[in-house]
Amino acid sequence: MPSSQIENLFNESLIAHQQPEWPDKAKLAEVVNELRQLPPLVFAGECDNLKNKIAQAASGEAFWLQGGDCAETFAAATADSIRNRIKTILQMAAVLQYGASMPVIKVGRMAGQFAKPRSDNFEKRGDIELPAYRGDAVNDLEFTKEGRTPDPSRLLKVYNTSSATLNLVRAFTQGGFADLRLVHEWNKGFIKDSNIGPRYEAMAKEIGRALDFMRSAGINPEEFKTVDFYSSHEALILEYEKALTRIDSRTDLPYDVSAHFLWIGERTRQLDGAHIDFAKKIRNPIGVKLGPKTSQAEVIDLINALNPDDEPGRLTFITRMGAKNIRSILPALIDTVTKSGRKVLWVCDPMHGNTYESPTGYKTRSFDDVLDEVRGFFEVHNKLGTHPGGIHIELTGDDVTECVGGGLEISHDDLATRYESACDPRLNHTQSLELAFLLAEMLRDSK
Ligand code: PEP
Ligand code: CO
Repeated sequence: MPSSQIENLFNESLIAHQQPEWPDKAKLAEVVNELRQLPPLVFAGECDNLKNKIAQAASGEAFWLQGGDCAETFAAATADSIRNRIKTILQMAAVLQYGASMPVIKVGRMAGQFAKPRSDNFEKRGDIELPAYRGDAVNDLEFTKEGRTPDPSRLLKVYNTSSATLNLVRAFTQGGFADLRLVHEWNKGFIKDSNIGPRYEAMAKEIGRALDFMRSAGINPEEFKTVDFYSSHEALILEYEKALTRIDSRTDLPYDVSAHFLWIGERTRQLDGAHIDFAKKIRNPIGVKLGPKTSQAEVIDLINALNPDDEPGRLTFITRMGAKNIRSILPALIDTVTKSGRKVLWVCDPMHGNTYESPTGYKTRSFDDVLDEVRGFFEVHNKLGTHPGGIHIELTGDDVTECVGGGLEISHDDLATRYESACDPRLNHTQSLELAFLLAEMLRDSK
C-alpha cells in the first residue's frame, strides 16, 4: 500500500474530543509533515509479539504489568528518572513472577505519555483564567498565557523525547542491566526504612540461589539475561498518532509506530468518535478504559468495533471503577463478555476511580483505596472464574509523597514534602513494591 493511502485511512469527519485548540494551524501542518517523515519508534513486529503475549494473558497464562507516570514531562526524561522507573517495574515484575510463578508482561506508561485529557478546558486561579494544562505535548504547566498556549512544535519534542527514552529503555533491558542475576542491584539506591526493602532483599537472595542451582546443573538460559519491555501511552492527540501511523512492509497493514500499545481513555471512547475510528484502523494491540458508567451494550459494541474478527490479544479492557464500585459494577460487564464468547484481557486500573483532593489541597489517592479496588478486581474474577489479567498503575521510582498511606504512612500533611506530579498522584517506589507483594499473594491464591 503506498504511503499516500494512509491519508484516506481515517474518517476525518468524526468528532475528536479533548483535542487542543492550536492557534497556529500552519505551524501544526508543518509539524505533522515533519513527523510523517521521521523513522518509526517501534517496529510492527514487536507490536505483534506483544499481541501474542496479551493473548496468553487473556487465556490466563500470563499477567500484565503496566506502569509509569500519569503525565511524562520533558524535564523528567533524565537518566536517573527513567532508570528508577524501569528498576521499579523490573522489581515489581520479579516479585510477581517469583511469587505467583507466572510470566509477567512488562509495559511502561512511558516514552510517549505526554498528553492529558482534562475535565475542564480552563483553569482559574484568582481572577485569571487560562487554558488547562494538557500535557507537555500541548502546553506548559507554568500558569502564564504564553506557557498555556498550545504550541505544535511540542509534538516534535514528544517524538524526540520518546525516542531518547526508548533508547535508554532498550539499553537497560537488553544490555545486561535487566539480567535476573542483578535482581539485587535493582534495589540499590532506594530508601530502606520500611519492611519492604528487607522483604525484597530476602526474595532476591532466594532467586539468586535458585539461579545458582540451575547454573550448577548446566542451565543458564538466555531468557534470564534480557527482558522484553514494551512502551504504551494514551492515543489522545490524533494529529500526532496519525502522523506516526505507517504501513508495515511485512504485512501491508497500518500500525501506529509511536508505541507498542495504545489505549483510548475514558473521555474519548465514544463509539462514533474519531478516537475509536483511529483505533479500529491500526493493527497494534489496543486498550480501552472503562469507567463506572460503562454499560453492557457499550462493552459489546466496543468489542465488535475494535476486534470484529476476534483476533487473539487485540483488545484489552482497563477497568477503573473506583474501590466503592468495582464489586457491584464489574461482574455484569465480565459476564456479558464471557457470554458473548469473545476474549479480552481484563486489566485493573485502581488509580483513576480513587482520586480526591486532600484537606491540604493536593490531588491524591489513598494506598488503601488502591489496594481495595485491586482486591475487589480479584474477588470478582475469582467468583466468575475469569482471569484477573493485569494491573495498570501510575508510579514513579522516586521517593515522592503523592499518594497517602502505605508502609511509610504518608499523611495528608506529608504530601507537601515532595509532590512532583504534573498531573495525577503516583505511587512511589516503596508503595509500588508493597503493592507488588500483595498482588503476588492475590495472584497465587487465584490460580
Ligand atoms: C489516565 O490514564 O491518566 C487517564 C486520564 O485515565 P482515564 O481515561 O481512565 O480517566
Ligand atoms: Co492519570
